Amino acid sequence: MKNAGKVGAFIAVLMPGLVGSPGYAQDAEHGKSVFKACAACHATDHANRVGPGLEGIVGRKAGTVPGFRYSNAMKNSGIVWDDKWLNAYLESPQKAVPGNRMPYPGLKDVTDRADLVAYLATLK
Ligand code: HEC
Repeated sequence: MKNAGKVGAFIAVLMPGLVGSPGYAQDAEHGKSVFKACAACHATDHANRVGPGLEGIVGRKAGTVPGFRYSNAMKNSGIVWDDKWLNAYLESPQKAVPGNRMPYPGLKDVTDRADLVAYLATLK
């Protein structure tokens, strides 16, 4: 079957949701694989690429990595990145920070997002 791999991956992504209750623990290990969608633009250390380095992102003030040219929207957002803000921003960047310049449409899957934020918290 040509799509067997794809289907397997799809089921693997679904499983945590199927076995999980609403209190399901976040899975930073899975979040690391979700982060592949971000790695084209973001380093996990402090290096700037298309996007700013994400080392220490949780607890950091938005728009403050030295040498990165942020949009005014991001610089002036007043956000301090915590779980709640990251979750909102990654769900819908333009809704959370209108006018920001991250060319990313948003991550709709709730579990993927929670796991991704758990992974981001490990970048210290
Ligand atoms: C195509 C490139 C691109 C992709 C893909 C991308 N980003 Fe970004 N990201 C950016 C840019 C550019 C900015 C700066 C936005 C601004 O200044 O308005 C940014 C900003 C951010 C910020 C704010 C950083 C700060 O220092 O305040 C976070 C957090 C972030 N991105 C996380 C992510 C995550 C997590 C993903 C994966 C789901 C992702 N991004 C995907 C380009 C990208």
